[in-house]
Amino acid sequence: MEKYVIKGGTVLHGEVEISGAKNAAVAIIPAALMVDGVCRIENVPQISDTDMLLTILKELGAKVRYLNRSTVEIDCTKVRNQDAPYDLMRKIRASYYLIGAMLGRFGSSKTTMPGGCNFGVRPIDQHIKGMTALGAQVDIRNGYVYAEAVGGRLHGTRIYLDKVSVGATMNIILAATLAQGRTIIENAAREPHIVDLANFLNSMGADIRGAGTDTVKINGTERLHGGTYTIIPDQIEAGTYMVAAAATGGEVLIKNIIPKHLECISAKLRETGTIVQEYEDCVLVKGASSLRRVNVKTLPYPGFPTDMQPPMGALLCLANGTSVITEGIYDNRYKYVNELRKMGAEIQVDGRVAVFEGGKRLTGAPVQACDLRAGAAMVIAGMCASGTTVVEDIHYIERGYENFVGKLNAMGAEIEIIDFPEEEENLKKIISVS
Ligand code: EPU
Repeated sequence: MEKYVIKGGTVLHGEVEISGAKNAAVAIIPAALMVDGVCRIENVPQISDTDMLLTILKELGAKVRYLNRSTVEIDCTKVRNQDAPYDLMRKIRASYYLIGAMLGRFGSSKTTMPGGCNFGVRPIDQHIKGMTALGAQVDIRNGYVYAEAVGGRLHGTRIYLDKVSVGATMNIILAATLAQGRTIIENAAREPHIVDLANFLNSMGADIRGAGTDTVKINGTERLHGGTYTIIPDQIEAGTYMVAAAATGGEVLIKNIIPKHLECISAKLRETGTIVQEYEDCVLVKGASSLRRVNVKTLPYPGFPTDMQPPMGALLCLANGTSVITEGIYDNRYKYVNELRKMGAEIQVDGRVAVFEGGKRLTGAPVQACDLRAGAAMVIAGMCASGTTVVEDIHYIERGYENFVGKLNAMGAEIEIIDFPEEEENLKKIISVS
């Protein structure tokens, strides 16, 4: 089992290139299932979530080939099979997009209940509400979600989401794209990856308007054709490096980004005293000599993203004074707090509110990546701590950050990936001398 061994006290300097957006890619890859022809998708992040989705498509009979590190060609024209491997589907959250894509393509779907990071209960009732409104019969049994378009094809309708849900908005867009007639989604989520999915589908012949606002209108179309599309840069990956630069007191140029998508993160970092300079497709982050306390509330886009909450939490352990985070999206996204406490952080959690008594010196410790973004937070804390931090369960981090260690080490971090159990004894020695 691989773990990250982080030498603390390093300061990040240099530049980092941001990869394609995970949460756009994980919807666009299943969307390729609906395309009659070859989709060439550029800027695909090399992470385990995209690997798994591409494997699922291959298992269904798609032709998938990489043209280079980040460009993949997918041809699903001849796919007839709908039996995707249970074990792969249940590992990732985004397997729920196969419901919308398969319903559009075949008029029926068979998927598992989605997996993904555990932030408490993560229902898919809004997805099901949307599919049902479009005319599907949805049935959950034996661990599978079965959906079947009554009469063989979905029909456009008006759907009001009771919760602002990224996944439900994108899934309904997928299903409605090949439905008959017009669908209107109200109270839709507005994240940049929703716009990206709509742009992808439109470039293949769909007719989707209003993505990025709370009302999305989809005029169903008969067929999607092949084409080439470039995925947008990852807002959360960029934000993570911004916070890492600020927390370590370094200076980092974050390249290949859309500054508009980062405004909420830039604004919050500026409140801490960090300098953030925006350019056309990059931001320069210069850490302050001493960080100021801030309050953060996570909200749907364009608010501060919940996925940036754990990295920001790591930074707030170091900021002078008391900071308060209010989690506005999930019931239980503070599991990482226990790990930060092992490093000397003082944090109180009450429900969705966490109070950080900042200005503490963090000390290296063996900690766990409880989930993807929690893992990134532990790496940031480890770089800022004195001594050595060992992060376990790094498979979570690799679900969503391409070459995380390589990118950080190129900016001056000292992180090794050590494979256990062979290295267990070495690791014990490292910890005992640091
Ligand atoms: N919700 C429901 N019913 C639903 C759907 C959602 O009650 O049918 C609730 C959720 O439990 C949550 C809130 O609505 O409290 C918002 O959930 P949303 O549907 O927006 O989240 P998601 O689609 O499951 C995606 C990202 C997450 C990111 C959230 C919020 C993917 C694959 N996942 O999840 O990304 O946190 O949107 O922005 O796109 C990550 O990248 O680390 C990650 C967890």
